[in-house]
Parts: sequence; C-alpha cells; structure tokens
Amino acid sequence: MKIAINGATGFTGRLAVAELARRGIDAVLVGRDPARLRAAATGTGFATRLADIGDHQALRDAFTGADAVINTAGPFTRLGPPVIRAAIAAGAHYVDTTGEQHYIQDVFATFADTDVTIVPAMADDGGPSDFISHLAGSTAGPKASMTVALWYRGGGFSRGTLRSLDPTALFDGALRYEHGQWATYGDASRAVLTFPGSNTPTTVGKAALPPVATVPRHTDVTRMEGLLGGSFDALKNGIDPATIDALPEGPDQAQRAASTWTIAVEATNDGGAVRGTVQGRDGYATTAVIAVEAARRLAADGAKPGVLAPSQAFDPESFLGFLTEHGARWAVET
Ligand SMILES: NC(=O)c1ccc[n+]([C@@H]2O[C@H](COP(=O)([O-])OP(=O)(O)OC[C@H]3O[C@@H](n4cnc5c(N)ncnc54)[C@H](OP(=O)(O)O)[C@@H]3O)[C@@H](O)[C@H]2O)c1
Repeated sequence: MKIAINGATGFTGRLAVAELARRGIDAVLVGRDPARLRAAATGTGFATRLADIGDHQALRDAFTGADAVINTAGPFTRLGPPVIRAAIAAGAHYVDTTGEQHYIQDVFATFADTDVTIVPAMADDGGPSDFISHLAGSTAGPKASMTVALWYRGGGFSRGTLRSLDPTALFDGALRYEHGQWATYGDASRAVLTFPGSNTPTTVGKAALPPVATVPRHTDVTRMEGLLGGSFDALKNGIDPATIDALPEGPDQAQRAASTWTIAVEATNDGGAVRGTVQGRDGYATTAVIAVEAARRLAADGAKPGVLAPSQAFDPESFLGFLTEHGARWAVET
C-alpha cells in the first residue's frame, strides 16, 4: 500500500506524515517547495515529489502509483478541486481535511461520476460528527430533526485554518437542510447549549459545519442545522492576512494536548429525542489520525466509486471505535 500526501509540508500535513510513519505505511510526500519537502521527509524514509497545485501533470504524476491521496492543502475552496482532478487522473482514491461546507457541496456536485472514491472532510469535525449523526439518526428513526453542535476549547487555530476561514461562508452563509434541500437561513434555532461534560450553558451560533452537507445524504432527516459553541466575534470581520502571517504556524504541543473538542448531536422525532456525543483532545493530531486511517481503509478495503459522505464510505461504529484507541469517547443515548 502506498499513500500520497499533498500539503505534506504544512502544519496538519506534517502531523499526518508522522502518523503515516508511526503506522509503518509507505508514503510519498508531495509539495511545491523542495527545502520544505526535504524537511518534512527527514527521518521518515519517505519519497518526495515536487508539484505545485497549479500544475496538473506534475500533480498527476506525483500521485501515480499511490492507492490513495490525502490532501491537507487548504483553503480547499480554492486549492481542493485541482488536487481531486489529479487524484482521479492518477486512479487514486482521495480524502481531505476540509472544514469548508460550501466546498463539500461543490465536490458532491462536481465529481459524482468517477471511478475512484472521494471522501472530503475526514478531519476532527467532519468525520466524527458525520458518524455520530448517523448513529443518533438511525436510533431516532425516520424523519428526525437534527442539530449538530461543535465546541472547541483551548489550543487555538493554525495559520492554515485561519486562512481557510471565510467568515461570510462560515457564519451568514451557513447552509441548513430543510424540505429536501440546502439553503441559507435566518437565526439559529437556539442561542445557548449545555454541552456534555459542562455544567453551564455555552453560547452557540449558526455555522457552516461539514455534517450538514454530508449527513442528509445517508440519514433520514427532515431538517439539520449546525451550531458552533463559543464566541467568534473576533473572526466575524475576517483577519487581516498580515496578522495571520505574523502568528505561529499553529498551536504548540502543550497547547494542543490541553485542547478539547466536543460534538453534540440531537435527533428529535415523534419517538422522542436521541443524543449523540463524541469528545476528544488535540483536534489537529486527531485530524491526522482520521485522515490517515480513512486513506488506509480506502486503499485496503475500497468503497463505492464517486463522492461519499464519511458514513457512506466507512462503518460509523467501527471508525468511532478506532478513534477510542486514540483517546476519543462517544455515546448515543435515548
Ligand atoms: N476541519 C478541521 O477540523 C481541520 C483540521 C485540520 C486542518 N484543517 C484544514 O486543513 C488545511 C491545512 O491546514 P494547515 O494548518 O496544515 O495549513 P498550512 O500549514 O498553511 O499548510 C498548507 C499546505 O498547503 C500547501 N500549499 C498551499 N498552496 C499550495 C500550492 N499552490 N501548491 C502546492 N501546495 C500548496 C502548503 O505548502 P507550503 O508549505 O509550500 O506553503 C502547505 O503544505 C486548512 O484548510 C485547514 O482549515 C481542517
């Protein structure tokens, strides 16, 4: 098995490279900067291939021979589609670490008819939230109304995350699923939520979360919206690129180790309410673990061709069970 990783020189990409090495999976590291590529490969024994995302042939050649591609180069709205096209041309399955809801919608609309499997959003928000929503929705039964809420505490964001964060798309432009379609909407259905593991309510606001784009494709929901916990006032007007450039590349190891993420899903229908929860630490390391495992499973087991939501490509209980080996906890309660 061989896995190509595009964006290998970035903050998330290097964590994924370390995870590939830890698991003994052969990899080829793909990037545009020779010195950064050499540094990313140091101590791993992995091959490197030079390719800018703007160069289709170089990217396709770099992916040729790989069973699957992991793409960690964002913003995906701008940089994702050329990488998918190159993976398809090379005959390699594709997973990425996007959190961009509108990009996920575009991928489903654009790349449905392919011979390989494409699974966007295999990160710490998109993967676990899709899996737990599927399990909560299946337990609730048909025609559930669903909210999915995400709460990050501590740690902070990488420069790459901040560069990928388009405040218009993330907040006002958030899509809700209702009456069989996705559309922008007014206010969120609630302003506070008491997350599992907390005694006090947390402010929540509407947000363009990945599971709203993926879950209605495999679970019978009549309505679904996404909520983000905490205050994001500082992000709502956008951050000046020069300010982002001056920040550290990402949270350091101590900050990451102290950070937590919580996903809380509520599925309600005539039968009552079902709650699903997934919690873990260090969202960036978890994202690397998720992306590598997703690519490994596609390379080893395959899946239907086309664009798939996480729960269409992988068994939700099996994948969440795998994440418990990495410190995550999950539960579905009626
Ligand atoms: N949803 C989630 O939970 C989650 C979690 C983790 C990460 N993410 C997403 O993953 C993405 C990466 O984050 P990050 O912190 O790793 O960012 P980063 O450190 O800025 O890394 C970006 C990577 O993309 C590469 N790149 C950019 N433009 C390129 C081009 N034209 N050709 C080739 N390579 C190019 C960079 O190469 P150079 O090194 O040469 O600049 C670098 O390897 C972001 O979109 C972030 O939001 C999402």
